[in-house]
Amino acid sequence: MERTAKLTFEGHELELPIEEGAEGELAIDVSDLYGKTGATTLDRSLANTALCRSQITYIDGDKGILRYRGIPIEDLVYRPNFVEIAWLLIFGRLPNRQELSDFSEALSNNQLLHEGLRHQFQHIPVDAPPMAILSAMLNNLACYHQELLTVEDTEQFTLAAARLISKVRTIAAFSYRRSRGLPIIHPDPALRYCANFLHMMFSVPYRHHVLDPEIEDALNLIFILHADHEQNCSTATVRTVGSARANLFASCAAGVCALWGPLHGGANVEVISMLEQIAAGGMEPEECIRLAKDKDSGFRLFGFGHRVYKNYDPRAKILRETCERVFARIQVRDPLLDIARKLEELALKDSYFVDRRLYPNVDFYSGIILRAMGIPTNMFTVCFAIGRLPGWIAHWKEQHDDPSSRIIRPRQVYLGSKQRGYVPMSER
Ligand code: SDX
Repeated sequence: MERTAKLTFEGHELELPIEEGAEGELAIDVSDLYGKTGATTLDRSLANTALCRSQITYIDGDKGILRYRGIPIEDLVYRPNFVEIAWLLIFGRLPNRQELSDFSEALSNNQLLHEGLRHQFQHIPVDAPPMAILSAMLNNLACYHQELLTVEDTEQFTLAAARLISKVRTIAAFSYRRSRGLPIIHPDPALRYCANFLHMMFSVPYRHHVLDPEIEDALNLIFILHADHEQNCSTATVRTVGSARANLFASCAAGVCALWGPLHGGANVEVISMLEQIAAGGMEPEECIRLAKDKDSGFRLFGFGHRVYKNYDPRAKILRETCERVFARIQVRDPLLDIARKLEELALKDSYFVDRRLYPNVDFYSGIILRAMGIPTNMFTVCFAIGRLPGWIAHWKEQHDDPSSRIIRPRQVYLGSKQRGYVPMSER
């Protein structure tokens, strides 16, 4: 028997279908509400609204659970490589050996940039924000791969996905090299995904960067942890743009723009600024906590809190442990980690944070590890985007392949002027 929710108002009485998710979560389907009543729902940040049905990622915010295609994140971060997880998210299952080999080869065959695109880096200001470069260059791929503006079959889609996932590293590394006045380092197809990125970032023309396997593994773990997170702001943006049948390059470029925000992926940059300010003696940890609690301060404890996780973000837990492993490897201990731990300790015993169920999120520790790798702070959100790209592509594909999907076009509550006439300038 169909489960329903009764809604009565203004003489209307509706039975709204209730949909149950794979893990028992319930959604009241209001798809017919406006047609039957002329009323819409108001849910300003969509915190109570399911944008779509999806089979890609499951999050349980109360229990701190994160699964990619049903596999717990804890079972993924230490074993397979990032390319394998990208395939899992996009195609819905773990690839067999041939599939993974074919996809890896497609990445290797598509890691160079078109020379026209490469030359554009010469005209970018050396202090340009890397996220501005990234969103522009991902969108620019549409100029050089016009045959992929519409993807009619899996082969075309897979090529577009491979070009994005492979070239995003090249674009990111080139923007870093440009910012440092260094010659660009071309990709080396003999290297695995993460090693190749570190090579393009840190090698010099006469000597390959000496890759530490532990550092490569840590970057692989960071990319996997960031690979998808259901309907977060940037993924919902990719879906919204893609719902208009915009191409994959444009949709992912839009995702980069949303991710840039300091409340979203940009938080990993803000966390380091906050920790550096404390490390420089500009602020005590206790002052930082006080400011975060003071609504008038306009200050937030970046890297803390989450719309969905009301428990410890499982990714933050893994990243916190990874910090120790990386520092042991490079035999350097960044004081920022001790400051981060102190802030966490103060917050988690403070009723303001406890009552609001504010815990460290993925951005709280990720920057400390990226810093230990020598990646500059302004590239942290770019690294987040490299990790999140397979998730954006997976969601774009899921929506693109769904024959019932429609253009995303929400309504509003209009509070503007009632009808009035035009007033000629002479009478104003
Ligand atoms: C990411 O959605 C995703 O999945 C995102 C992400 C992904 O993988 O895609 O997980 C990645 O974006 C992680 C979040 C990174 N952002 C930050 O670390 C920025 C700091 N955090 C906050 O701005 C905030 O917690 C958000 C943006 C993450 C969540 O915002 P919400 O759900 O809108 O929560 P809210 O602003 O309504 O806060 C609820 C209460 C408020 O206090 P009251 O009005 O109830 O008194 O908690 C307070 C907020 O003031 N609060 C904080 C706080 N976060 C929430 N107070 C101080 N410091 C904070 N960090």
